[in-house]
Amino acid sequence: MARIGILTGGGDCPGLNAVIRAVVRKGSNRYGHAIVGYRDGWRGVLDRRVLHLTPDNTSGILHRGGTILGSSRTNPFGEDDGVERVKQSIEAEDVACLIAVGGEDTIGAAEKLSREGVNVVGVPKTIDNDLNATDFTFGFHTAVQICTDAIDRLHTTAESHNRVMVVEVMGRHAGWIAAYAGLAGGADAILVPEKAFDIEEVCEHLHHRHHRGRTFSIVVVAEGAAPTGGMKTVSTEAKDAFGHTRLGGIGVWLEHEIEARTGFETRVTILGHIQRGGTPTAYDRVLATRFGIAAIDAAHDGDYGKMVALKGTEVVRVKLADAVGELKTLSQELYDTADVFFG
Ligand code: F6P
Repeated sequence: MARIGILTGGGDCPGLNAVIRAVVRKGSNRYGHAIVGYRDGWRGVLDRRVLHLTPDNTSGILHRGGTILGSSRTNPFGEDDGVERVKQSIEAEDVACLIAVGGEDTIGAAEKLSREGVNVVGVPKTIDNDLNATDFTFGFHTAVQICTDAIDRLHTTAESHNRVMVVEVMGRHAGWIAAYAGLAGGADAILVPEKAFDIEEVCEHLHHRHHRGRTFSIVVVAEGAAPTGGMKTVSTEAKDAFGHTRLGGIGVWLEHEIEARTGFETRVTILGHIQRGGTPTAYDRVLATRFGIAAIDAAHDGDYGKMVALKGTEVVRVKLADAVGELKTLSQELYDTADVFFG
């Protein structure tokens, strides 16, 4: 029997509780391990704030959004003696391995800690789906469903009022949510961070569509998208512990530009954190559960420095190092598929 730690870091996403539940269920019931939950991501490790997790206190959480452990964007490498404090905290709790559930920042910190001799296993999470070495992260499917439902609703009001509806979705560096939700919702244009857009072309395209008899259009834009020669739109210049500025507002800019350039009445909807909240889809509950089981298996086997990942239909173990460094951006194939429907 060993003591295994778990933390959830970065932006929360639906499915985190399903991972925690799976880790505890198999870790306790099958392996006889004690599971130590750290509060608020790396913050809880640095400050040694723990919660002892049992099958009893983690039952009934599968369908709940958020994370019972709390989350934060704390970067142990941005703190004084951060690495030493992490090591001491883990040692003081007698934790043999730490399961870090997170996206590029949390997994990035896990990978660096692993190089410093900390025993870590990673679990990939982010609604943005931009983490490398896994085909999908959990949380993404739920976010896409929320955006698709919103686009469906916006369609009917767009049609009633002959309007252009701009829908701003999350996606800091990658347009996965915009592309999937745009395809599923039948968007007329999809603007993503991977490809600077020409506002003239977007407006020309809307004109063309409306001249062919359409009276409304839906434009889906990722928060990280930018016009040619322009910058990403930030809602504040302040940076988080990992150096990210807070994005937001490209939709508002588009609303103004499209209306001014085309004369079509235009409205913007910013979906924001609605995309991250609430109950996970069945797909995300299953993926998160499979990741949780695979993570506790890796921790039990002593196979540290790994991240569990989805490759095709299989959950496998990859090196933490393979997941970090470069983000997984939208494939050309997916963009080309969406492009067919922009006509
Ligand atoms: O990293 C996931 C994400 O949802 C991004 O899409 C978004 O830019 C960011 O988090 C928002 O972060 P916060 O919750 O700190 O505002």
